[in-house]
Amino acid sequence: MIDIEATVDPATQSALFARVRRHTGIVMADRKWTLLHGRLRRRLQALELASYRDYLAVLDQSAEEVGHFIDLVTTNETSFFRTPRIWDYLWHGFLPAWHAAHPAATLQVWSAAASTGEEAYSAAMLFEEFREQHPAFRYRILGTDIANRVLDVGRAGQYLGRNIDGLRKLRPAMLEKYFRPQDETCTVLPALRAGVSFRPHNLYQPLPDPTRFDLVLLRNVLIYFDEAGQEAVLENVRQSMAERAVLLVGESESLSRLRTGFVYQQPLIYRNGPGAG
Ligand SMILES: C[S@@+](CC[C@H](N)C(=O)[O-])C[C@H]1O[C@@H](n2cnc3c(N)ncnc32)[C@H](O)[C@@H]1O
Repeated sequence: MIDIEATVDPATQSALFARVRRHTGIVMADRKWTLLHGRLRRRLQALELASYRDYLAVLDQSAEEVGHFIDLVTTNETSFFRTPRIWDYLWHGFLPAWHAAHPAATLQVWSAAASTGEEAYSAAMLFEEFREQHPAFRYRILGTDIANRVLDVGRAGQYLGRNIDGLRKLRPAMLEKYFRPQDETCTVLPALRAGVSFRPHNLYQPLPDPTRFDLVLLRNVLIYFDEAGQEAVLENVRQSMAERAVLLVGESESLSRLRTGFVYQQPLIYRNGPGAG
């Protein structure tokens, strides 16, 4: 097997960081080289390339390779019911208020940067529980991500290991109710999957979809972008949101220093539009 040299010249390193930024908007500085090398070296070996210079040439000529590159350079960590405070807010605050204000409408939800789908299915389980108490309630969830590999996992709805253990700890009754266990794997039941769809999308582009979402989960992705990138992405997302729709961000993310059309509600929770309160 070809040994890929971890030490590369600064120009090649910068060129690779530039490709990460061009294709995903993710900003990587020099200290991220070890991480990037760790993620790419096996790909070079699989392609039987001896150097990163050779890899750059392949990357620049192949849209298919760009897809593999994006799969490898993105960080896709996620879990069911990540950040419990958000799910408490949805259950106790957002859902009752929204349903009371829109008794006949379908709640449109966008899990932007959905990764492998745990966030979208967490929302679906919560909404199903709400629907048991409010049979007229309807919802649709769109999950998008720039990386295709993770979207395939979301579409399959098959989970195992740490993330299922996490769900078992947090909400054992939901695991029992909404998943079918088989060997090591737990698969989302078709009834839950029916309300959730997945599709590729780069947040640096507007979503080509006329839907105006009532709730957007944009969590743990802004941290990878610089301020200008965050503002651009937030404006793209805002364009797909209904007036006064709710935006949820990740635990280490804040919009306070950014110029956006969002209005702060509570930590991690914002509303679209002027005068939101
Ligand atoms: C750490 S995961 C967050 C998953 C989930 N939202 C959560 O909070 O658990 C970040 C996701 O953002 C995606 N991502 C990175 N850059 C993106 C971009 N420009 N457009 C869309 N998704 C992007 C990655 O592929 C990755 O799956």
